[in-house]
Amino acid sequence: MEKTFIMVKPDGVQRNIVGDVVTRFEKKGFQLVGAKLMHVSEDLAKEHYKEHKEKPFFGELVDFITSSPVFAMVWEGENAVTVARKMLGKTNPAEAEVGTIRGDYGLQVAKNVVHGSDSNESATREISLFFEESELVNYTKLINDWVY
Ligand code: PPS
Repeated sequence: MEKTFIMVKPDGVQRNIVGDVVTRFEKKGFQLVGAKLMHVSEDLAKEHYKEHKEKPFFGELVDFITSSPVFAMVWEGENAVTVARKMLGKTNPAEAEVGTIRGDYGLQVAKNVVHGSDSNESATREISLFFEESELVNYTKLINDWVY
């Protein structure tokens, strides 16, 4: 089973989209193993997005993600990273397919509602940045017997 890091960004929290994002992941068959509403500090934002630090939008991205609470989650399931990225849609909501989260809820790349890990390596890194090991639960949901 893979784990992936999914975050409803400040725009999604402000627009009350948290519930829909959670519902989509639940209905797809993934299992929630960690979640919290939190403020992202400037240090955490810079570390999380460090691969983009040379990009012209880096400052804007850090200001945005620290501006208001985010809803950070860890979801588990088969091919969680790849499938979650499909559910999120393309980074730019204007190009994202209708039916994806960004395609349904976003208009601009700077406010694209959700973040999702782009690889297993990123997922491991991002989960450990946002969550202590003790904040992640390990349990079996009987519903999984009907998904896999
Ligand atoms: S890149 O250049 O392809 O590596 O960047 P990309 O993967 O498309 O985007 C990485 C994250 O940066 C955000 N982004 C922006 N924020 C503000 N302004 C602009 N112009 C901008 N372009 C990209 C984008 O929402 C991505 O955030 P995450 O959280 O990873 O979805």
